[in-house]
Amino acid sequence: MECKKLLEVTFAKYVSMFNCYMEHTRAERSKDVPNCLFKAMEYSLSVGGKRLRPVLCMASAVSNGLKAEQVLPMALGLEMLHTATLIHDDMPCMDNDVLRRGMPSCHAKFGETMALLAGDTLIVEGFEWALHNLDLPAQNVLNAFKIITKAGGASGVCAGQALDIFKEGAEGDPNFVGKVAARKTGDLIYAAVMTGVALAGSDPKRFKGYEDYSRQLGLAFQIVDDILDVVGTKEELGKTIGKDAEEGKLTHVTVYGLDRARMMAEGASLKAREIISRFEKPDSFLSLLPEYLVDRTR
Ligand code: IPE
Ligand code: IPE
Ligand code: MG
Ligand code: MG
Ligand code: MG
Repeated sequence: MECKKLLEVTFAKYVSMFNCYMEHTRAERSKDVPNCLFKAMEYSLSVGGKRLRPVLCMASAVSNGLKAEQVLPMALGLEMLHTATLIHDDMPCMDNDVLRRGMPSCHAKFGETMALLAGDTLIVEGFEWALHNLDLPAQNVLNAFKIITKAGGASGVCAGQALDIFKEGAEGDPNFVGKVAARKTGDLIYAAVMTGVALAGSDPKRFKGYEDYSRQLGLAFQIVDDILDVVGTKEELGKTIGKDAEEGKLTHVTVYGLDRARMMAEGASLKAREIISRFEKPDSFLSLLPEYLVDRTR
């Protein structure tokens, strides 16, 4: 099978496993939750995006000797945390976007108060699911838990979002947008890959390799997100195009221009592929993924 097709088949298999698991856990997740709150949380979560973070967690776990099924609760925790960041990111006090995943954003549909609560709840629930029923060595679970909590915290996504909006330290820092990308997006991509590796209890050499890989992957991913905000289509992306310029954001495109941004994304993708080649075959899922994510249109 052609490489791209091979990757797409595996991606779809992981997404389908993940969506089944989400469906299967719905009754448990809704227990004792007011209907108005659960509806808002579930709306944003189940409308579905690419499911990249759960897929990364499953794929890296498999690469490191586990079965994808064994990390499904962590995968759900990651997607909950990611979805929470999207709900908050779209609110009027942040990026002020009424479209997400091709549907009205959470606050556009349920109002700001409920969107704030849905996001808060998904963060906390996400951490809870990260520890749910994981039948793996306690030390591995603890290590993975530290990774996901740190990624969501003050030096992780929240740091990135604060820098993205308040631009603290931007002046005189030639790599400011790279730093923002590493925090607001890279840290959760890092957590997605590294929770899989940590749950598998891999040795330090592998751990370091997957760390370096995930850093390059996260950077490539955010550069492409910046590019698609300019050249993408609303239909494919399911978000409003041109938001970054409208909100006066510093992005890889506004700072370096489209051509250079593309080169930077390709450079990071190549580095990711080179790093992972020390651990995986050239046609493995994680080897093929960087190029696939750079070529994406959604
Ligand atoms: C969007 O992430 C926000 C960024 C971190 C760039 P995705 O592009 O993965 O969004 P979904 O999950 O597919 O909707
Ligand atoms: C992505 O930032 C990071 C988070 C949502 C935490 P963006 O603001 O670039 O994401 P999109 O473009 O709205 O998806
Ligand atoms: Mg934003
Ligand atoms: Mg945004
Ligand atoms: Mg963006």
